[in-house]
Amino acid sequence: MIVSADAGSRGGKPVPYKPLLDEAISLSKYKPEAVLLVDRGMSAMNLVAGRDQLWGNLREKHLRTVVPCEWVDATHPSYTLYTSGTTGKPKGVQRDTGGYCVALAASMKHIYAGNAGETYFSTSDIGWVVGHSYIIYGPLIAGMATIMYEGLPTRPDGGIWWSLVEKYKVTVMFSAPTAVRVLKKQDPALLTKYDLSSLRALFLAGEPLDEPTAQWISAGLGKPIIDNYWQTETGWPILSLCNGVEQAKSKFGSPGKAVYGYDVKLLDDQTGEELVGPNQKGVVAVEGPLPPGCMQTVWRDDERFVNTYWKSVPGKLVYSTFDWGIRDADGYYFILGRTDDVINVAGHRLGTREIEESIAAHPNIAEVAVVGVADQLKGQVAMAFAVLKNPALVTDDASALALEAEVFKLVDKDLGAVARPARVRFVTVLPKTRSGKCLRRAIAAVCEGRDPGDLTTMDDPAALQQIKDLVTP
Ligand code: PRX
Repeated sequence: MIVSADAGSRGGKPVPYKPLLDEAISLSKYKPEAVLLVDRGMSAMNLVAGRDQLWGNLREKHLRTVVPCEWVDATHPSYTLYTSGTTGKPKGVQRDTGGYCVALAASMKHIYAGNAGETYFSTSDIGWVVGHSYIIYGPLIAGMATIMYEGLPTRPDGGIWWSLVEKYKVTVMFSAPTAVRVLKKQDPALLTKYDLSSLRALFLAGEPLDEPTAQWISAGLGKPIIDNYWQTETGWPILSLCNGVEQAKSKFGSPGKAVYGYDVKLLDDQTGEELVGPNQKGVVAVEGPLPPGCMQTVWRDDERFVNTYWKSVPGKLVYSTFDWGIRDADGYYFILGRTDDVINVAGHRLGTREIEESIAAHPNIAEVAVVGVADQLKGQVAMAFAVLKNPALVTDDASALALEAEVFKLVDKDLGAVARPARVRFVTVLPKTRSGKCLRRAIAAVCEGRDPGDLTTMDDPAALQQIKDLVTP
């Protein structure tokens, strides 16, 4: 059975869900027997006879029904969440039930320090891992009330979150740096307009927390800001401060130290050697076994789980996060970005290969490279450079913009608007090595105005120059 609604709402505008759901069901091999729909009165629905049922019609009938608890093995999968990696094929992160409950219960006590009877407010999307762990399961397991907020942090104004904190006496709050950067553009007086005396701390995760953003929100709220670092794969923090165990000092720019249960190592990506000295840059890896709550496997693909996550560092069977990091002399880690082609746009994790595959499906695109480029507001944005099959169709700015708009539509449909590149630019050739490997890092460097580094393996220097000319104002 699928439970859904007629529509969601974004920025006050309805986003119809039912047509998307109908299309997904028609594409899927396994059809649900029933679809239960909540009609929020936002968008008209065509009901499929015999399959679709309206919640409003059934509610009265079942209101007092007692549903017994369904007992499952601790290892029974609770959910799968698809997440991006190096290939164009997202991986289904499979989570268990018992271990996940244990990990969440522990983290609620020792990291977030929330108590039964209080209110937790995570501003995340519910479909993101943070939404699963800390809108739904974590707070409820801890006996806390949880707030599910549908909408933007700026509507009706930039004070909406803080008005909710006052109204529901929120004690623990969880958000992402991008959202705070959005609030920075609003009236700072909104931060002090409401009574925030119940709030003990604001936790931020999902992307690097830059110091100006951390300082701004910390000063504005007068509350501790606690960065924490983790992944869809782990389900709960790898690095954080465990103030519920012992008070530790925050360091700006650092998500803290390894959380108990995670045997975190920094490894040389070439040799696999462990880097033990302070401030050495290596791949952030976790020695097995992983603590409870972490992924069990890739859904229906154990081999991919082992090969992707456990065999990427030479000579060692360790879990790789695919992030670069350093550790200072006090044991605080600093995350320095991904080792693979994953980018982080406004806290959303995207695989550049997925975006490339979507764009390459356009009939006039022969080849495309997508790279992540630093952005003040969103952390990173995707930039696409495409080679045309028929260049005669793009002769001037107007035809280029028209094609770019077509590509945007394609990506919106395949992956959602969040994956839409900031720009799609057209070139005659992509910079490649002589063996044909696209030099994405060099493209990203040029887009950010950085030195592209060693280009001795590059086949055709004019290719990179073309991109430079396009992106240089
Ligand atoms: O690159 C790291 C970055 O986000 C990735 C995981 O994204 P996702 O699977 O969407 O899970 C987010 C769960 C919070 C990581 O591999 N990342 C996450 N948190 C931080 C971070 N980078 C820097 N600082 C963080 N606190």
